[in-house]
Amino acid sequence: MLRARTRSAGILTRRRYCMESRGQMVLTMFMLAFGYQNDAWRSPDSRADEVGGLDMITDMTLAAERSKLHAVFFADSADGGPLLGGDNRGVTVYEPVATLGALAARTSHIGLIGTASTTFSEPYTVARQFATLDNLSKGRIGWNIVTSFTGARNYGLEEMPDPEARYRRAGEFVEVATKLWDSWDRDAIISDRERGLWADPERIHRINHRGEHFQVEGPLNIPRPAQGRPLLVQAGQSEAGIDLGSSVADVIYTMQSDQERSKVFYRDYKRRVEAKGRSAEHVKLLPGIMPIVGRTDKEAQELSDELASYIRIDSGRRTVEKMMDVQIDDLELTDRIPPERMVDGPRRMDRWRVYRDYALEHTLGELITELSRAMGHRWMVGTPGAIAENLIEWFDGRACDGFNLNPPSVPVGMNAMLELLVPELQERGYFQHDYTGSTLRERMGVQQF
Ligand SMILES: Cc1cc2nc3c(=O)[nH]c(=O)nc-3n(C[C@H](O)[C@H](O)[C@H](O)COP(=O)(O)O)c2cc1C
Repeated sequence: MLRARTRSAGILTRRRYCMESRGQMVLTMFMLAFGYQNDAWRSPDSRADEVGGLDMITDMTLAAERSKLHAVFFADSADGGPLLGGDNRGVTVYEPVATLGALAARTSHIGLIGTASTTFSEPYTVARQFATLDNLSKGRIGWNIVTSFTGARNYGLEEMPDPEARYRRAGEFVEVATKLWDSWDRDAIISDRERGLWADPERIHRINHRGEHFQVEGPLNIPRPAQGRPLLVQAGQSEAGIDLGSSVADVIYTMQSDQERSKVFYRDYKRRVEAKGRSAEHVKLLPGIMPIVGRTDKEAQELSDELASYIRIDSGRRTVEKMMDVQIDDLELTDRIPPERMVDGPRRMDRWRVYRDYALEHTLGELITELSRAMGHRWMVGTPGAIAENLIEWFDGRACDGFNLNPPSVPVGMNAMLELLVPELQERGYFQHDYTGSTLRERMGVQQF
């Protein structure tokens, strides 16, 4: 955990050159209706009994829209296993494509980002879904491209294909989806009533894709997306993940717990983007952050302590076992996991190493709390001023282009984050006071099509 520090207000005045050279932060919000911190839904204030319904996520999205956030973001997985243990940890209750369609009708400015797996779907399906969503929402849609690490047995597979194979498929998947969106010229719809031509056949093209994984003739049977292409989001941190993200994504979600390491990651990532002939400025790197905000330090600490009291140690143990692939039955909470049990290997994800490094220096009890708090993302407890200052330090230091805000609990932790922290960033000139531009791509400052 990082405890926010306070500095004199003078340093916080935004330097002019920053505004000119970097624009402002991009902020999105992770939509976990149970709250990002595991077990936060046990709070008597939560709306746990409404999860699955539209009203509560509409309220969340409208709250984010009132705060002028660029977008809300829905993760996804195809694995309900934890529910058999009475646990909703890591279970995504809202199927993103259907959910974004409903939210598009209830919102007007905020971006809507949803996850779809390249391992468990087909490009023609995903291209149609996201083209439709983008048109329904007038250009506010983003696709978070994932290769999934669980769910094989729900799709007729014994185990997940290895990461390299998944990423090879993902690369071709995105290529095909992009060709399909481009299969309609911008001005293909002519509505020529006289000649009886709604679309001009000259301006709609077959793609005739023949590749290792997909044979797709095209064209798409849905008009070109309002943004040309929906915003593309990616979160891989392995070599193959970074290769895909730096080739195609406009926004990169990432897990960074240390500012210096994040700066290195940021610099390296942007270099790789440029090496691929793309503009580094147009690719936004957004680490996750879970701010527990209070008007005073005492208020923030009380909320933090309250949320900590909800953490279930037994399911926390299972989370550690699952996320770290390690056996801990015989360990007390005051023990450390013996290093020899945590064996690295090519199938390990980057975040596994983050957890491993933490486990090497902390007790099992502390590790359970840490993973339950923010699943490896940075989390902070403090006043809006102190937390804003820390976020600004990361932004000014080029450790990131903004943040994916993880609301610790819903609605209490989320409201404190949106109503106290975001205005603090706005007052200091680091975050927009209103929406500009007309599409999510324009508002995010990424490439236009
Ligand atoms: C903020 C964030 C959100 C993510 N959302 C999803 C998701 O919804 N579904 C999923 O399968 N993976 C998700 N991931 C995992 C990534 O897609 C990726 O698999 C992970 O970061 C490991 O990278 P690697 O596969 O390149 O090793 C997310 C990761 C981050 C940091």
